[in-house]
Amino acid sequence: MSTPFSNMRGKHRRVEPEAAAPAAPAAGLADTGLLIDMRNIVKTYNVGEPSELTVLHGIDFHAEQREFVSIVGPSGGGKSTLMNLIGMLDRPTEGAYAFNGEPVYAKTDRELAAYRSGNIGFIFQNFNLIGRMDALQNVAMPMMYAGVDKKERDARAEELLGMMGMGDRIHHQPNELSGGQKQRVAIARALANDPDLLLADEPTGALDSKTGRLVMDLFHQLHEEMGKAIVFITHNPELAEETERIVEIMDGRITDVRPTAGARAGEAS
Ligand SMILES: Nc1ncnc2c1ncn2[C@@H]1O[C@H](COP(=O)(O)OP(=O)(O)OP(=O)(O)O)[C@@H](O)[C@H]1O
Ligand SMILES: [Mg+2]
Repeated sequence: MSTPFSNMRGKHRRVEPEAAAPAAPAAGLADTGLLIDMRNIVKTYNVGEPSELTVLHGIDFHAEQREFVSIVGPSGGGKSTLMNLIGMLDRPTEGAYAFNGEPVYAKTDRELAAYRSGNIGFIFQNFNLIGRMDALQNVAMPMMYAGVDKKERDARAEELLGMMGMGDRIHHQPNELSGGQKQRVAIARALANDPDLLLADEPTGALDSKTGRLVMDLFHQLHEEMGKAIVFITHNPELAEETERIVEIMDGRITDVRPTAGARAGEAS
């Protein structure tokens, strides 16, 4: 079946793993074939002398290639803190992280920024679009940082917006779009550099249930048809059940990890 996404596959060809020099595993990490392999992640904030606040207490988190995994748990438990670490926006106080077998913390901040922008797309509850830019410019921006020339990035941005059903809104600014439309622009932007991983922090949290449903359906398509791995933070248990695995975090610790009913049924067939 032809879908809006099926013609996108293979367009941005990557170097086959066989062709690339094998990345050295991070210290203490074997090369496991995992997309995300985090070990013993501790995050401590200094919140005014003399007190320190530890918000992640030795988290082991992993995700398979192309996995769709949810992170759930009460407010303040550390979900967004962990997501910022998975997304290489921040470094932990302790711990090791290999992404696709590459040691993340061996990189300088500058190297990390480039690595992040090529490998990870972010989607937030409040969209985080740039207000002075139209939809096309918002989607094209990550490609500008990646050095793609203007003609190509505008063409790809338009194509991605078309895929998201936003082809007739490319010159609208965020304040001229509905919440669901803004989130579709944000998803198109997250896809700009064809990352392996999408990180979504409560992407349906600011949307009504019908619009949230549409956005969730888009995530399923990105996962099933484009092979994206997705880490999906949500307070909605029903949406979490639609993913393949649920990781629960409370008070900075993983308190439960379980495959969903859907994933178990998929394995059985
Ligand atoms: N920069 C910071 N400095 C100090 N403490 C912080 C900082 N960022 C987060 N925290 C604390 O870390 C804890 C975890 O916050 P985090 O945002 O990760 O929770 P969360 O699970 O995402 O919650 P929510 O479901 O409400 O989004 C909270 O107690 C928060 O106050
Ligand atoms: Mg949060």
